Amino acid sequence: MLDRAERGHRKLVEIKGLKMYFPITAGIFRSKVGDVKAVDDVSFDIYEGETLGLVGESGCGKSTCGRVILRLYDPTDGSIRIDGVELSDADSGTLRKLRPTMQMVFQDPQASLNPRMTVAAIIGEPLDEHSRLSKAEKLDRIYELMDAVGLNRNFANRYPHEFSGGQRQRIGIARALALNPKFIVCDEPIAALDVSIQAQVVNLLEDLQDRLGLTYLFISHDLSMVRHIADRVAVMYLGRIVELAPRDALYDRPMHPYTQALLSAVPEPDPEIETERKRIILTGDVPSPANPPKGCNFCTRCPKVMEICHNVNPPFRELEPGRFAACHLYEDTDTTAGKTAAQEELTSIQQGV
Ligand SMILES: Nc1ncnc2c1ncn2[C@@H]1O[C@H](COP(=O)(O)OP(=O)(O)O)[C@@H](O)[C@H]1O
Ligand SMILES: [Mg+2]
Repeated sequence: MLDRAERGHRKLVEIKGLKMYFPITAGIFRSKVGDVKAVDDVSFDIYEGETLGLVGESGCGKSTCGRVILRLYDPTDGSIRIDGVELSDADSGTLRKLRPTMQMVFQDPQASLNPRMTVAAIIGEPLDEHSRLSKAEKLDRIYELMDAVGLNRNFANRYPHEFSGGQRQRIGIARALALNPKFIVCDEPIAALDVSIQAQVVNLLEDLQDRLGLTYLFISHDLSMVRHIADRVAVMYLGRIVELAPRDALYDRPMHPYTQALLSAVPEPDPEIETERKRIILTGDVPSPANPPKGCNFCTRCPKVMEICHNVNPPFRELEPGRFAACHLYEDTDTTAGKTAAQEELTSIQQGV
């Protein structure tokens, strides 16, 4: 188990240049006519024992990002290292061995639990595949897991439909914990639950993290919930991460215009600040990930757009210690030439070089 203070020293997950493109096919020969760039050149680390929040509007690529990190998809490009092991090109045998260390909790517990299996069978299934426990040992472990997530042992032989949404999510969490994982991708784990139940499940996830030293990638479109649970937050827009920062820094002083717009839409609990709150209304639709704009992906909707943004994709850079963003507003000028590398690139594009 890790103390809060001990957390954040070792990188458990290291993602570099990760891309996940889905081919678009057409015609009777199913020939490829393009790509849905669901995840397009994403890089970040997750430290052992921390919760990294991943936020962004529906369709921006959050789930795909979580799934490709766990190798539920074959990545188009890039590197995925978990606990020092490269996963991007790992074969099925290697992946099978690594499966227990990384797990997923899904958004919809209804859809992710087999309705024909009892709770004991659902929670025990990973044990059948990855361990050689005797029947009695297995039942002990199932009971232990049910205790850990707050499910009554007497319900072990019941079926998922006999439970409430919150209890079903507890079953999903127990199954994810069965093999003692280190890293869990929580993909909108509370989005399908009643508001009154959401806090209970979040508290359970936090409690399990403390007790078991778990590392989370917590995917959500709910910025208030992420503020509560995450240590650091990554903001995604149209397949790319536009900003990543420690939680308080991000919420107190968002740097990327997209983060500023997203946060301006979140109501403030303090009524005095709430009356002062200025909403930034973004115009235009989110472009399609099959046809993203040239330059910065956000250029078609950015209130602070500049000429360079329509031409050059801003690099994702560390602007302050621990704070990363991809935005031309923060390009520092090279004093000798008086121009940034990105401006040079724009000039050469304009000159047709
Ligand atoms: N299996 C798939 N095949 C083709 N396109 C997909 C697939 N999964 C997701 N997409 C597309 O990738 C984009 C990102 O989707 P997703 O990762 O589900 O976003 P989010 O979880 O942020 O809502 C969307 O445009 C979606 O339609
Ligand atoms: Mg999703």
